[in-house]
Amino acid sequence: MFGTEARDALYDIIRMRRDVRAEFAGEKVDDDVLWRVLAAAHHAPSVGNTQPWDFVVVQDEQRLKEFAEHVAGCRQAFADSLPEDRKRTFDPIKIEGIVESRTGIVVTYDPERGGRHILGRHTIDESGLFSAVLAIQNLWLAATAEGLGVGWVSFYEEDFLADFVGVQAPTRPIAWLCVGPVTRLQEIPDLERFGWRTGRPLEEAVHWDAISAPRHDA
Ligand SMILES: Cc1cc2nc3c(=O)[nH]c(=O)nc-3n(C[C@H](O)[C@H](O)[C@H](O)COP(=O)(O)O)c2cc1C
Repeated sequence: MFGTEARDALYDIIRMRRDVRAEFAGEKVDDDVLWRVLAAAHHAPSVGNTQPWDFVVVQDEQRLKEFAEHVAGCRQAFADSLPEDRKRTFDPIKIEGIVESRTGIVVTYDPERGGRHILGRHTIDESGLFSAVLAIQNLWLAATAEGLGVGWVSFYEEDFLADFVGVQAPTRPIAWLCVGPVTRLQEIPDLERFGWRTGRPLEEAVHWDAISAPRHDA
C-alpha cells in the first residue's frame, strides 16, 4: 500500500520526534499548517468512535505569559520537593517553552462524549482517556513531519488550567502542548542529555506470553 520511501519517512518521523523546550525559533506556526496538524490529531482512533477530545488554541502573548508564570510556580514546588542531589540535576533542565513557541494547544477530555453506552468502554473506563492521548500523539508526529516542535507541559494545577480555558467538570484539560517552528530537533532527549533519566532498551520492554516468562524459542 505504501512504498518503502513513505514507510521509511514514517519511521524517521517517529524516531526524530522530540519533546521540545529550548529550540523554539520564536515564530508563530502558519494557520494552514496548524489546521493540518489538528486534522491529524482529529484522525486518531477513539473508543466507540467518541472522539472525546477538544483543542483550545492559545496565542495571545499575555495569556501565554500568564500560564508560564503559573507553570514556573509548579516547577519551583517540584524543585523544592527534591533531595539535594536530584535538585542539582533538575536545576538546569528547562521544562517548557510556553511563550517562545507562540502557540499553546490545550487538549481536553470529555468523558461524557458519546453518552452512557460507549462501545468498548464498558469495562475499561480509561479507554476514553487513552483515546484523547492518541490524538496528542498524532498531533505530535504530524507536527514533527511539518518541521514543528511540540513540548508537552504537565507542570500545572488542573483546576487552574480548567479555569484558564473555561473547561467545566467532568471535562478535563489533559495537556498543554507548546507548538511552533524550531531551529532544530535534539537527537537525544533532554532528560538523557541532562542526566535525569535514560531510556531503556527495547529488549527489556518486550515480553513473550507473560511479563516474567522466559521466551520459548530463545
Ligand atoms: C504525559 C507527558 C507529560 C510530560 N510533561 C512534561 C513537562 O511538564 N515538561 C517537560 O519538559 N517535558 C514533559 N514531557 C516530555 C518528556 O519528558 C519526554 O517525552 C521524555 O523525556 C522523552 O523525551 P522525548 O519526548 O524527546 O523522546 C512529558 C511527556 C509526556 C508523555
